[in-house]
Amino acid sequence: MTTIVVAMGANQGIGFDNQLLWHLPNDLKHFKEITSGHPIIMGRKTFESIGKPLPNRTNIVISRRKDWFQEGILIVGSIKEALKFAKKIDEEIFIIGGGKVYEQTFEFCDRLEVTAVNAELEADTFFPKIDPKIWTKTDESCHEPDERHAFGYCFQTYERVEKSEA
Ligand SMILES: NC(=O)c1ccc[n+]([C@@H]2O[C@H](COP(=O)([O-])OP(=O)(O)OC[C@H]3O[C@@H](n4cnc5c(N)ncnc54)[C@H](OP(=O)(O)O)[C@@H]3O)[C@@H](O)[C@H]2O)c1
Repeated sequence: MTTIVVAMGANQGIGFDNQLLWHLPNDLKHFKEITSGHPIIMGRKTFESIGKPLPNRTNIVISRRKDWFQEGILIVGSIKEALKFAKKIDEEIFIIGGGKVYEQTFEFCDRLEVTAVNAELEADTFFPKIDPKIWTKTDESCHEPDERHAFGYCFQTYERVEKSEA
């Protein structure tokens, strides 16, 4: 199973200036719970935005740069190569961004773990539109803003609708 994990605002914004748009501790906790123990695939810019390998997960980072090296991560030159390595490690693979990598994996991934943030903030990176003809929401839990969370948010799971034989 290949799962995309993403937090997006009401305008599908996911980032600005290579940073996230919000600080939501419960979303970070949720992300950690979902991905721990499994390989995670990300673009080089997302890795640089995080700044270090995420623990207890094989960090697979995609880059075309030949001269780029960082401790503690597996660097690959294509999406295909990233998937090949990840599938050798585990059946459950998580794609964690950013925009460029989502764009190239959205077409074939099996599941989406979305944090829908109830905010419309300025963004320069966006997630593709989730077409209800292709995706069905199978789970949702929503949370109001509180002293640690400036915005309300919903954790949502989407599964790809089975293609009909017709
Ligand atoms: N809200 C969320 O859930 C979430 C999650 C993750 C990231 N983000 C945000 O998204 C933004 C970053 O996204 P982004 O689109 O700018 O960058 P990105 O997708 O993280 O990384 C893009 C880089 O990945 C490499 N790459 C991508 N596709 C490739 C391919 N097919 N073959 C080889 N290399 C490939 C290239 O690296 P080289 O340039 O090194 O060749 C490319 O410049 C940030 O603002 C970040 O905070 C948000």
